[in-house]
This record gives sequence, structure tokens and C-alpha cells, in this order.
Amino acid sequence: MTTTVGGGAVVRRERELAAVESWLGAVPDGCAGLLFTGEPGIGKTTLWGAAIERGHDLGATVLTARAVESELPLGFAALGDLLGEVADDVLPQLSAPLAGALGAALLRTPPREGLDPYAVGRGLTEALHQLSRYGPLLLALDDLQWLDAPSARALAFAVRRLGKGTGIVATLRLDASDPVELRLGLGGRLSEIEVKACPSELSMTCFARAV
Ligand SMILES: Nc1ncnc2c1ncn2[C@@H]1O[C@H](COP(=O)(O)OP(=O)(O)OP(=O)(O)O)[C@@H](O)[C@H]1O
Ligand SMILES: [Mg+2]
Repeated sequence: MTTTVGGGAVVRRERELAAVESWLGAVPDGCAGLLFTGEPGIGKTTLWGAAIERGHDLGATVLTARAVESELPLGFAALGDLLGEVADDVLPQLSAPLAGALGAALLRTPPREGLDPYAVGRGLTEALHQLSRYGPLLLALDDLQWLDAPSARALAFAVRRLGKGTGIVATLRLDASDPVELRLGLGGRLSEIEVKACPSELSMTCFARAV
């Protein structure tokens, strides 16, 4: 199987792409997670991008956030990216206390002193439930290990309460800790793929041929 991400072909990942395909097929009837782990530069984000692309093809709403190490200290940066495009639609669908808390976290309303993490987590959970009413919903998070702590806490709360039709696909550096606690939150509903070097030949050679 060959697919493309950002114009480049994904090569020598037939087994992983087949797993993505079957995982995506299971999202509409349940809630599930797919986690790519592996060493730096091994190809996690490439497979994550392929999952997003296929999710779009299948008509899912895909919300994405890519964490970077330098933004680790920025509160709610990842949540702002994740919900940026849908916030205006979904916030009016929430009760006033939840819209107030989530809206403040997303800087849609003036910042508040002592923002209650529980209210933000509950607001995010409700927002995801609302968004999944219109069809499959995919949350795509790249580099979990660098998620800012307030976003991770809200996401961990929401992941434990994900409803039917919502999937989460994420990447994590091997042996790094996951602040969203996907393993804990999803248990047996989480599929993990450790991305390893391309089978046979030199991976750099096969990547070079793909572009
Ligand atoms: N299967 C593949 N086919 C073609 N190119 C690939 C493949 N896997 C990875 N690459 C290329 O190798 C480089 C590194 O891949 P990628 O960014 O996906 O790694 P990563 O595991 O996410 O790295 P990091 O841990 O630094 O985030 C990229 O330029 C990407 O395009
Ligand atoms: Mg990456």
C-alpha cells in the first residue's frame, strides 16, 4: 500500500499502514486510540500524518495539535491548536459554566484568575461529545511528551470519557512519559505500534527514493 503525506510517498510501511486502516475502520463504532512510539526520526510523524490523511478521506472531522519542546511552558497552547478551528462553533453549544472555562482556556474570553482545571476538562469532554455527533471525530496529537501540562491534564480527563465515534491518534518518543496517560485512560482500547527502522536496506536510502 502506498499513501502520500505532504506530497511525499510513505514507503516500506505496509504493515503499519494496514494497521492504521483497520484502526480507522473501528473508530465509528467505538472509541479507540492509536499510539506510535519510536526513536527520534524513525518515522512516527509520517505515519501519524498518513492516519490524518486517511481520516480526512473517510470523512472524519480531524483536530490536530503538534507539540514542540519550546512551547512546553505555554499553558493551553496545544488545546488552542486542537480546538482552534472549531471553537467558535462548539463553544455556544456548551452550558455557560463550561463555555466560560473552556473559552477562557482558549483565550476566546478574557483570561480568568484561578481557572478551574476540572471545568476545563469537563468543557473539553462536552465539546468533543458535541463534535462527534456529526460523524467520526479524530484527535491527532504529535509528540505527546511535549504537551503543555494544562492541555495534557484536560486531555487526560477527556480521554477517560471519550464517547463512541471518537478516536485519538498520537505519537510519543520511545521511553518518554505520556502526560495524557493514554494507556491508563484507554486500557485495551489503545493500539500501540512501535515504529522501527525500515525492514532491510538502509532507511535513508528508501526515504530518499520516495521524494
Ligand atoms: N516511511 C517513510 N517514507 C518516506 N519518508 C519517510 C518515512 N518515514 C520517515 N520518513 C522521512 O524521514 C524523516 C523523519 O520522519 P518523521 O518526522 O516521521 O520521524 P519522527 O519519528 O516523527 O521524528 P521525531 O521523533 O523527531 O519527531 C522525515 O523527513 C520523513 O519525511
Ligand atoms: Mg515526529
